[in-house]
Amino acid sequence: MCGIVGYTGSLAAAPFLIEGLRKLEYRGYDSAGVAINGEGGLQVVRRKGKVAALAQSVKSMDLNGTCGIGHTRWATHGKPSEVNAHPHTSCDGKIAVVHNGIIENFAELREKLEDAGHTFASATDTEVIAHLVEEAYMGDLLSAVRTATERIHGAYGLAVTCENEPGVIIVTRKDSPIVVGQGETGAYVASDMIAVLEYTRDIVVMADGQFAKLTPAGVEFFDMYGKPVQPEITHIDWDVDTAEKGGYPDFMLKEIHEQPRVIRDTLAGRMVGGHLSIDELDMTTEELNLIERVTIIACGTSYHAGLVAQKLIEHWARIPTTVSVASEFRYDDPIITPTTLVVAVSQSGETADTLAAIRDARVKGAKVFGITNVIGSPVARESDGVIYTKANKEIAVASTKSFLGQVVSLTLLAMLLAQAKGRMRSNEIRALFRQLAETAQQVEEILSDTTAIDEAAVACKDAASALFIGRGMGAATSYEGALKLKEISYLHAEAYAAGEMKHGPIALISDGFPVIAIATKGPVYDKVVSNLQEARARGAKIVVVATEGDEDIKAHADHVIYIPKVNDYFIPITASVPLQLFARAIALLRGCDVDQPRNLAKSVTVE
Ligand code: G6P
Repeated sequence: MCGIVGYTGSLAAAPFLIEGLRKLEYRGYDSAGVAINGEGGLQVVRRKGKVAALAQSVKSMDLNGTCGIGHTRWATHGKPSEVNAHPHTSCDGKIAVVHNGIIENFAELREKLEDAGHTFASATDTEVIAHLVEEAYMGDLLSAVRTATERIHGAYGLAVTCENEPGVIIVTRKDSPIVVGQGETGAYVASDMIAVLEYTRDIVVMADGQFAKLTPAGVEFFDMYGKPVQPEITHIDWDVDTAEKGGYPDFMLKEIHEQPRVIRDTLAGRMVGGHLSIDELDMTTEELNLIERVTIIACGTSYHAGLVAQKLIEHWARIPTTVSVASEFRYDDPIITPTTLVVAVSQSGETADTLAAIRDARVKGAKVFGITNVIGSPVARESDGVIYTKANKEIAVASTKSFLGQVVSLTLLAMLLAQAKGRMRSNEIRALFRQLAETAQQVEEILSDTTAIDEAAVACKDAASALFIGRGMGAATSYEGALKLKEISYLHAEAYAAGEMKHGPIALISDGFPVIAIATKGPVYDKVVSNLQEARARGAKIVVVATEGDEDIKAHADHVIYIPKVNDYFIPITASVPLQLFARAIALLRGCDVDQPRNLAKSVTVE
């Protein structure tokens, strides 16, 4: 939710700011702005709409200062508009602020500031920060920002610059990510390292309550009392091309095609001498053996990965497992004891509800494992152990390769628990691991020919609504399939365990209504086929994802998408891929932007 960038050094700031904002646009894209702190004083440019609109305006202006901050917004307080776009400025126009997060006590602060004579221009919570810094400013921006943050409650990643101190940017954070890096020609700040990796691979992931002062000469770090601190530097060796489309028409397709690599990287090094190991979890077999209950918390697509994991953990390790949407978990009264393992799944590692749920679980004495894609993210930092999914940066808002990375990581966790509990012999684990590794090749096969998927998409593109069904592992997969379709094509889609169809959803079915079913060969195949017949008898247009070689299924379907035969427990890995491609194909046919769907943002850092 909102991306911020900043640069100070020897080069013009505007090109980096615009390029950085483009890379962070996945975080929000309803308006954008920059403030350049150059020789002519502070110049602020803001535009409603995507970064491209801002870039167009900036191109025609003479913004040649070498220090500046920028922002791309996902609106929370105040509708998307130029006046609500960041940077926000103080009354005298000398202080500019960009912010990612929410200031919870902004209404009270705004009233006090207005009583003290400050005039507000926007409806945002952020603007109070510019005025608070202005009130506290006595010639030292760092100390003014420290004083201002003492008065705000909520979550923030902040970058502030002031006309009186050219070349200086002060940054700080609480519960919103900020990374800082020093390159050869200056210092950089961003909400996500992807914006700065081209300039430096040595990154400081700032801690909550830490401050940094960026000048052309370098970066200094301070704690909340203003005492200098030595930060931890993380070296990042990702491929910078992650932020480019690499010849694909959109990031979503590129990321879908990266999935075989994600599976292989996630599995690399996990089988040592016939023994499955996940060292990062830092728990002995004896400690794992003491776990009596597993609770998975997550949101969105990550929640669907959790549904898959629940089935695997219960089946293989025989540990009772629940999956909770994080926003519900925090307000429920979940049963968490010291023998409960809480698994928090979050691609971004910064989803506000998931983080709050982690904190609640830890207060209750649970051990928390994080499964995240982002190094040094709050979920990683606040968990007792962390498994990094090896998806690398995911740019398209709708998650694809991260989902597969999460499912594969959770599959390993389920196997590890089964191993620790003595529920699976080592030869079984080795055989399962081999089959799991084979899914990489199987996904490659699915990606090599999408003709059937594209034909099914053409047949369903004009529907007003669609139903996804499956049983067992197929049910968990169909939830994610329906979410993908509605996220990017705005076609209403629902998913149901196929057996539930008769208890309501079947009433929706009339001539031509699309029903998309996971009907792969496995323990519930015959049951799903019966459900297909019930839907077909009422006029449904049936699309099935079926097992290669299953000719019989053609009698029950209008469109068949074949996938290679896999162990039924790995169906979510392989069958999700055609559903991702199906959603994308429909979205494109309906003229939608598949990378940046309306109203959504990739990371949801507000409740
Ligand atoms: C947003 C994204 C989804 C994602 C969900 C949870 O809604 O658009 O793609 O699944 O947040 O995010 P997380 O980063 O916690 O996995």
